Amino acid sequence: MSNKKADSHLGVARTVAALRARVSEWRRDGQTIAFAPTMGALHKGHLSLVTKGRAIADRTIASIFVNPAQFAAHEDLSTYPRNEAADCDLLQEAGCDLAYIPGADQMYPDGYQTSVAISELSQGLCGASRPHFFGGVATVVCKLLNQCRPDYAIFGEKDYQQLLIIRRMVRDLDMDVKIVGAPIVRESDGLAMSSRNAYLSADERAIAGKLNGALSEMAAALSTGEDVAQILSAGRADLAARGFDNIDYLDLRDAEDLALQTDGVVAKPARLLAAAMVGKTRLIDNLAVTPKD
Ligand code: PAF
Repeated sequence: MSNKKADSHLGVARTVAALRARVSEWRRDGQTIAFAPTMGALHKGHLSLVTKGRAIADRTIASIFVNPAQFAAHEDLSTYPRNEAADCDLLQEAGCDLAYIPGADQMYPDGYQTSVAISELSQGLCGASRPHFFGGVATVVCKLLNQCRPDYAIFGEKDYQQLLIIRRMVRDLDMDVKIVGAPIVRESDGLAMSSRNAYLSADERAIAGKLNGALSEMAAALSTGEDVAQILSAGRADLAARGFDNIDYLDLRDAEDLALQTDGVVAKPARLLAAAMVGKTRLIDNLAVTPKD
């Protein structure tokens, strides 16, 4: 890092041209840049991405763009929480240098036709129930990275499949950026922070808080060498008993390539991943599972 900034004022760029002008100034001064893409409705999880950016680079940019391409017609695009003024206050407090808030015309101008598809890693888990989702994510992240051209881009591990997909895309398309994962930030009862937690009623919130505890117990048992099939089957029953309406998936996957493990014992680094409904809200969470040594 060099020429660390002295000011801490949040700038705002709403066009690709304004973003690039700011990035060019910093580049001319030899400064490095970290980038945290978000869809706004910021919480401490997002702010931890900014904090990580500040630790590894001279300048940190956060984008706010609710990306229509990653929502299916029946999903919550129109009701997705939006609060630009509060988001900018939080970014300012977190020491972010620039909020990039492009309009849809900057991201998908008239005549737009291109998309990015990542084949295998997009199958299964969230890709099974949201088949449109990862194509939309990969496309917008590819565009954001090309627009900003940061040294580092930071993604939360809460969307673990998304993180691996972005890593794969960057490798496959020879994009010159280092992808950095950031640990999940949790509420005091373990609920992974998410903008969609705002949808939960008080009763639903109480149930939601039990997801992480259930996963932690399963991960601990798997790490001590217990049988994968037995733990997952007992885990599904446990989640239903704790009040989850519908368990979309509860999978044990290889931590690197997401290969499914349905039985035996854990022999290499793995990830326990779950998606479950509480009322109409879909929650996701995941935990590392380390093999018994
Ligand atoms: O994780 C998210 O909030 C979104 O999927 C992302 C990476 C900002 C792309 O729209």
